[in-house]
Amino acid sequence: MVRFFLLEPLNGSGRKGGIPMQPLLIAAQAAELLSGSPQGLLVHSRRVASLVAYILETAPNLANGYRQDEIILAALLHDLGKLHWPEEFFSKPRYLLSNSDFFLMESHPFSSANLARQIGAPESVATLIEQHHEKKGGGGYPRKLINPDPVALLIGTCDAYAACLEPRPYRPETLTHAQALKEARKVGCLTSAAILEVLPDRILTNSLKLGRL
Ligand SMILES: [Fe+2]
Ligand SMILES: [Fe+2]
Repeated sequence: MVRFFLLEPLNGSGRKGGIPMQPLLIAAQAAELLSGSPQGLLVHSRRVASLVAYILETAPNLANGYRQDEIILAALLHDLGKLHWPEEFFSKPRYLLSNSDFFLMESHPFSSANLARQIGAPESVATLIEQHHEKKGGGGYPRKLINPDPVALLIGTCDAYAACLEPRPYRPETLTHAQALKEARKVGCLTSAAILEVLPDRILTNSLKLGRL
């Protein structure tokens, strides 16, 4: 097996020792997988990763001991598990989905993390992915954690914000910046929500247009 070490590899845990891996190659592989999805997963994932990168640039302390590139990688890989969803999950209104459909949908943080591991992501990245739909106080899923990892909340905040700017089968109209912020604040990472609140016009305009962020 050929390994490339052109950049400093991430460690298995993000903070301790582990198997070396190459974040850029993992990101490239994820982009290749996501680009095969007709549901706009690549654009959504890139948008979430871009917002996360912007927040970390604005407030580096929010990295909380993680490397910035592993957090951005987790943001890029967070919805990989949706590649296994049946097409109807993307097209049916939510009221037509069964309880077992919802169970499968709400387990995508686990399947995303597993796919991320399969393409070489370290456990630190997989853990952040598993928690990207958790909310502070226990209102999220899949584990309903009371105190999720604050960095996972950062990713979840950007995910919630970005999702509001994209059409969904249960909500064909996109929401406004103010409405998206309201959803983003519910995740519980108030600092990152406050940074999104004052996004520069160039980023805000582009994200509302669903253009390049
Ligand atoms: Fe997700
Ligand atoms: Fe997402």
